[in-house]
Amino acid sequence: MSNVVYLNGEYVAADKASVSVLDRGFMFGDGVYEVIPVYSGKTFAVQGHLNRLQRSLDAIEIKNPLETAEWQQIMDHLIEKNTPDQDAMIYLQLTRGVMQKRDHVFSRDMQSTILMMCQPLTFADQNINTPGIKAITQDDNRWADCFIKSINLLPNVLLKQTAADQNAVESILIRDGFAVEGSASNLFIVKDDIIRTPPVSRHMLGGITREVILQICNEHKIVAREIVITEDELHDADEIWITSSTKEIVPVTTLNQHKVGNGVPGPKWLQLIELYQQFKQSVMRA
Ligand code: PDD
Repeated sequence: MSNVVYLNGEYVAADKASVSVLDRGFMFGDGVYEVIPVYSGKTFAVQGHLNRLQRSLDAIEIKNPLETAEWQQIMDHLIEKNTPDQDAMIYLQLTRGVMQKRDHVFSRDMQSTILMMCQPLTFADQNINTPGIKAITQDDNRWADCFIKSINLLPNVLLKQTAADQNAVESILIRDGFAVEGSASNLFIVKDDIIRTPPVSRHMLGGITREVILQICNEHKIVAREIVITEDELHDADEIWITSSTKEIVPVTTLNQHKVGNGVPGPKWLQLIELYQQFKQSVMRA
């Protein structure tokens, strides 16, 4: 039974869903997306994701075609059809729509193309027995507006592939001497028991997982600072984590062939991953 997706108002089998070759998403990568985690059949931190979707849409001048309740209704329907009671992810993509002929210039009253799908998700690396992952550093060669969750992911794809080709899971990106984020994740380090993460800027995506972690730290009076991290500080960290909706919090135990700290997941990571699971459960019960 094929996966059921939502495309422009219809629920269709994924292998039957199609869009025009003149869709600006296909031609120019002219669109934005969101990835929303689903735990036991319920969407997590959905308002944060929809707020970020709005920021991305505003930045590229696409009107949001749906209200929050309508987005939620589609998500709930897809979950019910595809992954009831399971951990999953919702992928939501909006492009500027289909043009008459190929032209870089866009019209502001186009009808956007809306795609949403729901796929099962397993969290491999945040299990408390994980050995952690390997990451490498690379120059951040993306554009300047990385706060937009653009579907145009070619640099991210190439950066992640370079990591994969070196048996690493993630590339940590360095811009002007500062560690910014991963190719598909945000960055945290721990030094002398203090948790640090780069402050939100135009050059990185404001992650929802990152926001949840900062909120948990705040509630539990755990010191966490939003402060820039130099490349040297990254290499000198006691712990490094990457975070995202599909990975939660993953400890990096090898960076560029060198051990991070003792080369095993650190105590702060252990504390935070436990608190994160507790937070998830409390939200799911509410
Ligand atoms: N990516 N930074 C980048 C460049 C990302 O692509 C992502 C997530 C994050 C973390 O954001 P969040 O915590 O809201 O998931 C940071 C998603 C998962 C993806 O592209 O599949």
